[in-house]
Amino acid sequence: MKNKLSEISEKALNELKSILSISELEAVRVKYLGKKGELTSILRGMGALSPEERPLIGKLANEIREDIEKNIEKISREIKEKEKAEKLEREVIDISMPGRKKSVGKRHPLDLTLENMKDIFVSMGFSIEEGPEVELDYYNFEALNIPKNHPARSEQDTFYINDNVVLRTQTSPVQIRVMENQKPPIKMISPGKVFRSDAADATHSPIFYQLEGLVIDKGITFADLKGTLELFAKKMYGDKLQTKFRPHHFPFTEPSAEMDATCFVCQGKGCRVCKGSGWIELLGCGMVHPQVLRNCGIDPEIYSGFAFGFGVDRMVMLKYGIDDIRLLYESDMRFLNQF
Ligand code: DAH
Repeated sequence: MKNKLSEISEKALNELKSILSISELEAVRVKYLGKKGELTSILRGMGALSPEERPLIGKLANEIREDIEKNIEKISREIKEKEKAEKLEREVIDISMPGRKKSVGKRHPLDLTLENMKDIFVSMGFSIEEGPEVELDYYNFEALNIPKNHPARSEQDTFYINDNVVLRTQTSPVQIRVMENQKPPIKMISPGKVFRSDAADATHSPIFYQLEGLVIDKGITFADLKGTLELFAKKMYGDKLQTKFRPHHFPFTEPSAEMDATCFVCQGKGCRVCKGSGWIELLGCGMVHPQVLRNCGIDPEIYSGFAFGFGVDRMVMLKYGIDDIRLLYESDMRFLNQF
């Protein structure tokens, strides 16, 4: 039995010498030390030995097992180290290669313009209010003096969720929500997204931005409206800018007007941007209609006010000379990186 044991030991150690991979190593381990391994099956036969012989052979067998195990461990370590060294060799760093560029995010031109506008109005004492983009028909139309079947409804191609719920077509409903919840004096703006079911082209987008304004107090007149909006336009585009008001019609204001400003590209001389007229249309405005005040529980005999609504996209496009509104909503990095 002793001879057999040393024979196995020699054979195992010999085989281990030519091992190159971890899987080969494992195969050798199983062959000798596994449950059905050669050394193990010899040890099973120890029952047949005499009581004197048994401890001696047992000791020898254990020594052989330990010896084989140690060898396996050593070879395993060597193989792993060799593999690591080879991997490092393969992964040489070429320090002459150009590095990977990290692209830094940029502010969107719409966001930049809105922030500019908000800053100016806040400096003039306006608060900023928000309203829902999914709006009740009542707030978007009815309370603003636009009943069902009113011709003004067909001017705004509305996305209807159902008979009573729409995607807001304007930021004007925020006026109503604020007047319902706050007592005058009120001085607020509300920037936000609006939606119209227009097919997208260079000048139309089913989604765009407006900035609404509302001022309500005792004794507010059209002169306050003009002074406020003129001051805003000068702060936004410079002192040289001039404004003019043209009569217009909105169901929720009376009288109503549109404000034009001298073209900030050609300073009024006439160019491609202002189509030669020297003027650019900036917003709609007017004195809040007495019926709209009444709809919100405000007495038009005591209070009056003015309101206005900017098309923000138009202002952005004019400011940066962008000729297609769709660029503002396509998230094309080649476009956005220019700001
Ligand atoms: N809501 C109007 C629109 O979408 C813009 C507007 C005009 C808002 C006059 C106003 C206003 O508050 O007084 O065309």
